Parts: sequence; C-alpha cells; structure tokens
Amino acid sequence: MKAACRQITRAGKTLGFVPTMGALHDGHLSLVRASKARCNVTAVSLFVNPLQFGPTEDLHKYPRMLERDAAMLEQAGADFLFAPPVEEMYAGAEVNAQPNGPHLSAPSKQAPDHRSDTYVVVEGLSNKLDGASRPGHFRGVATVVAKLFEIVRPDCAFFGQKDAAQVAVLRRMARDLDMDVEIVVCPIVREKDGLAMSSRNAYLSPEQRQQALVLHRALLRVQMMADRGERDAKTLREIGKQVIAEEPGARLDYFEFVDPDTLDPVEHVKAGALVAVAAYVGTTRLIDNILLT
Ligand code: PAJ
Repeated sequence: MKAACRQITRAGKTLGFVPTMGALHDGHLSLVRASKARCNVTAVSLFVNPLQFGPTEDLHKYPRMLERDAAMLEQAGADFLFAPPVEEMYAGAEVNAQPNGPHLSAPSKQAPDHRSDTYVVVEGLSNKLDGASRPGHFRGVATVVAKLFEIVRPDCAFFGQKDAAQVAVLRRMARDLDMDVEIVVCPIVREKDGLAMSSRNAYLSPEQRQQALVLHRALLRVQMMADRGERDAKTLREIGKQVIAEEPGARLDYFEFVDPDTLDPVEHVKAGALVAVAAYVGTTRLIDNILLT
C-alpha cells in the first residue's frame, strides 16, 4: 500500500483518502465522491480497528462484507482499497504485550493481538462525548488514523460530520502533530425518513428502526426551538431529552450542546453550536448531531 501510494504522489498526483470500517453505505460513498471531486486518486481503507472497541462492545459482531464493499467501491470509482488483516496493522504488539500494562488507561482487557505499544492520545478531547461513554475509544481511533495517514500519506483525508467528536479529535491530532494532511469534513447522509446512515443500523429490527428515528426528531425539535429564539442550552437540552424520553424503545446516553472544536459545553447557543446525541435502541448505540443554524 505504501509503495502504491508513494508512486502516486511521486508522479505529482494528489491523493485523497477515505478511512472506513466497512459495511459501506451511501454515507461512506459520499466521502469517496468528495475525494474524487477533489483529488486525482482516491484510496479507501477498510479495517475494523480492534483498538477502538471496548471489551464489551460489538467488535466481533461488527458487520464484515469485504467482497460486497469492494464491489461498491469499484462502482463508485475508488482507485485503491487497503483492507489489511489485524496482524498486519498491529504486528509486534502480540509479542510485546504484557497483560494489563504498562498502559496508562483503559481499555486494558484487550486480547494481545488488539494492542499496540504506541498510542496517539488527544488529551482533553478524547474523554468528551463518545469518549466519556467509551473509554479508550478515541485513543484507538487516533492511533489507527495516524498509522493509516503514515501508510497512505494523503494530501486530503475525508471524514463524515456524522462522527462529530471524531472529527474534533482528528483535526486536533493533525494540527498538534503537524501532519501534512488536509482534513475535509462532509455532511451527514440520511435515509429518506431522517435516520443518519450507519453500519450499525443493520443491527436494528424493523420496530427498532422506527424507534431510532427519535434521535433525529429530538435534534429537529431543538433546532425549531432555537429558531423560535430559545438560546439557553439547559432549556434546549431538557426539550431534547424529553423527546427521547417519549420513545420507550430508546435509552439516552448523552444529549449535549458543545463547541464543535473544543467539545466544551456551551451555556448560550448560537449558530454553529454542535448539538450531539447518543442513545441506545435495544443494545445498539446510535449517534447523531446537528450544527445549529
Ligand atoms: P466508519 O464508522 O466506517 O466511518 C467511516 C467514515 O464514514 C467516517 O468518517 C464517518 O464519519 C463517515 N460516515 C459514517 N456514516 C456517515 C453518514 N451517514 N454520513 C456521512 N458520513 C458518514 O469512523 C470510522 O469508521 C472509524 O472510526 C475510522 C475513522 C475508520 C477509524 O477506524
């Protein structure tokens, strides 16, 4: 993959990169389209990164459909697909792994082949929003994306606004580590009824699929109240939480009003504030967000 990518850059072509965990949908493909519009060559990675899953999370049941995904990417006009086996990304970790240490923080219960001796931790951002509910998650994301950036060395890398906290973490990482890559963020792609596309939607039963609409409904209600002049984040938060509470099939994880760059809570909302929600429908954890207009 390195050789192929270096050849592209050495030939003076621009290289766009779209990291994914597969089970592709139109949200992923929108990133491929954005990359193709912007860069000469587009590389996609497909890697279900064990490092970003907690010990009780869905790593082992995460949908894997490499052949279907590869066909979709070919159809979408992607040029390269990098789909390494886990040993290739975390080689050496198995040999060097010591049970429970010497790492600083959770998750420590990962199997040996799920470990690395070197991590990228974006201090201050990694424990907010999803990072608060999923300890170690953003360390896993930042580490694998830093590795992928080093393998591909793209001019531009494309990420979805769907994962707003991930965007904040990776932007900060690229800035702090002087990475020579432009992070491009693309809008959330939704199903016709408003549900944000997600690989995890495949876990939902038809009934849960209906219940899952509550996330978007709550965000729309908040936007509507803000449009009517409500500026107090506490009040808006109660309104959003109330909408979620009215759907018995959903269990709220967080409903937050934050600055999209620092992920710090805001008290008075203005245009551009990030309203982010996470909720469980059954055992499936879903996230969604809007930037207030
Ligand atoms: P994954 O969940 O597969 O998502 C890959 C990219 O697709 C992310 O940038 C995500 O924000 C974007 N995406 C997902 N759903 C979207 C939607 N409905 N609209 C627009 N974009 C969407 O995010 C990851 O993988 C991983 O954490 C990764 C960055 C690959 C690191 O392992």
